[in-house]
Amino acid sequence: MCGIACLASPSSGKNCYKALEKLDYRGYDSAGMAGLADGEIEIFKTTGSVKNIEDFAKDFDCPLVIAHTRWATHGGPTKENAHPHLSYDGSLALVHNGIIENYQSLKTSLAECGIGFKSETDSEVVASLIAHESGSPLEKLSKATKRLEGSFALGVLFKEKVILATRRHSPLYIAVTTEGNMIASDVVCFIGLAKEFYALKEGEIAMVTEDKIELYDSQLKKIDISFCELEKDETSISLNGYEYYMEKEINEIPIIMRSFLSRYAKEDLLTPMKKLFEGVDNIALVGCGTAYHACLFGAKVLGERLNMPAHAYIASELKYSRPCFKNTLAILVSQSGETADTLGCVPIFKKLGLKTLAITNTEHSALARECDAYLPVCAGVELAVASTKAYVAQILTLYTLARYLSQEDFDIFSLSHLPEAAERLLGDYSRLASEILPAQRVFFIGRGLDSVTSQEAALKLKEITYKSAEGYPAGELKHGTLALIDKGTPVVVFATNQDLYKKTMANATEVKARGGKVILVAPSNFEKCDCDYFIPLPTLKDEAEYSLVSIIPFQSLAFLVCRALGYNPDKPRNLAKSVTVE
Ligand code: G6P
Repeated sequence: MCGIACLASPSSGKNCYKALEKLDYRGYDSAGMAGLADGEIEIFKTTGSVKNIEDFAKDFDCPLVIAHTRWATHGGPTKENAHPHLSYDGSLALVHNGIIENYQSLKTSLAECGIGFKSETDSEVVASLIAHESGSPLEKLSKATKRLEGSFALGVLFKEKVILATRRHSPLYIAVTTEGNMIASDVVCFIGLAKEFYALKEGEIAMVTEDKIELYDSQLKKIDISFCELEKDETSISLNGYEYYMEKEINEIPIIMRSFLSRYAKEDLLTPMKKLFEGVDNIALVGCGTAYHACLFGAKVLGERLNMPAHAYIASELKYSRPCFKNTLAILVSQSGETADTLGCVPIFKKLGLKTLAITNTEHSALARECDAYLPVCAGVELAVASTKAYVAQILTLYTLARYLSQEDFDIFSLSHLPEAAERLLGDYSRLASEILPAQRVFFIGRGLDSVTSQEAALKLKEITYKSAEGYPAGELKHGTLALIDKGTPVVVFATNQDLYKKTMANATEVKARGGKVILVAPSNFEKCDCDYFIPLPTLKDEAEYSLVSIIPFQSLAFLVCRALGYNPDKPRNLAKSVTVE
């Protein structure tokens, strides 16, 4: 969702490029870089991914550089719309992540002053708006941002030999790194280069030069920077011998389960949850995409174990509805902790006087900061756009929470068999992949929590293979979707609940009767049914535990089909990982 990297150092071009490369997951429609050379701003931009500016960047030796990778919002993915954008007078260049909602009216008033525009973007308007203000670079930026509506993280290179950065809603971080003073959309850029970082607060302005970083509040008063420790090391972002992050991240699932269990065993993260749940009669879970599927899982598991109504909501829908929650705990689930739609629900919950709990993989994220409490999911850095290990970690967190709150004698070690069960499912699914490859559409069905797994498995397949895939509650199939099943249509049937097994098998039989191909996923000790392909699951305690592992073969399957089709699984078309706009 657009990535920003800015660097002040003697060889900024090359090193700023390396930082920008790590932000590729935020969008790959176009990329660009600007620097101050001999008092003039030089800009290079091109369509496509960050890789396309590498040749330019490696010889771009100027002390101050700003760079950008774009996920198009306003205007197509053209060279003209690529960032950085130069202001009308050439006095500054700007990179932007976010959406300026009032850019049309600002554009009209600037046009009335005779200012023209080269691109269709809202970002170019901001560049010229800043340049058109009076005063020092700090004053200009401060005055201009007060006129903006919407969300932004901005990096602005001024001819006065300074880079300024500020934000509203979209994330932005600063660090003193071994390569120079840096500004970035994600702390992944600092890994291996810095031991600490600072997350810019709303309205603050960072001033970055080769010699120093200074911080100013919204009144332009200089303030101290209190840096936080950066714990991640380079192995967390290296491919570690894998060709793609997605494959690496699927294979890390047992490892991240182990680190989750050891962290929750060492740190007392769960005790504060008792107080948080005091007086709560309802639970509302909110998320987007894969995180929404984790919310569906959480609603069922928490609702049933705590014996209270629990519902999952899609954040972008909840935000513009008129929710009437009472005595409700709001749980917001997000891998990045920066998803605009999910973050946008926090003020709504606060206005209703609700307590909020963030379940996130990013502990320094806005979501973790803005909620009353948070639980880490401990999945480590996830870079592939399609979420895999973070989904498993999110549902493991929700499951652990439900067990802890509902079970007097809960012991985290009672979950220690799960990593091994996950390991057993990291198999070779290439035969199954070759069966799925020719299919135009694939269906996934299951009952209870298996219907949640069905939805997540379908999302994985469609987002990286562009095949039509749908996940349904098994009993719903006969109410419409069965009409789409004909000879050879693959239907994956998840059947992990012993009590519902016979009912689900009846649905599988209905599929077979229409010529569909049944791929059954069930515990190996359940009675076998007539199927075309069988994925046996190791015996586990309950339906929720099966959900933690039964998704793994379908993450691998999506990866294999994607590769067989020649697509890049880490960069699905039109998508981005951190969606910081609405
Ligand atoms: C995007 C990503 C998905 C992710 C969703 C929510 O759509 O492509 O993989 O599930 O955002 O992201 P979050 O960071 O809030 O979990």
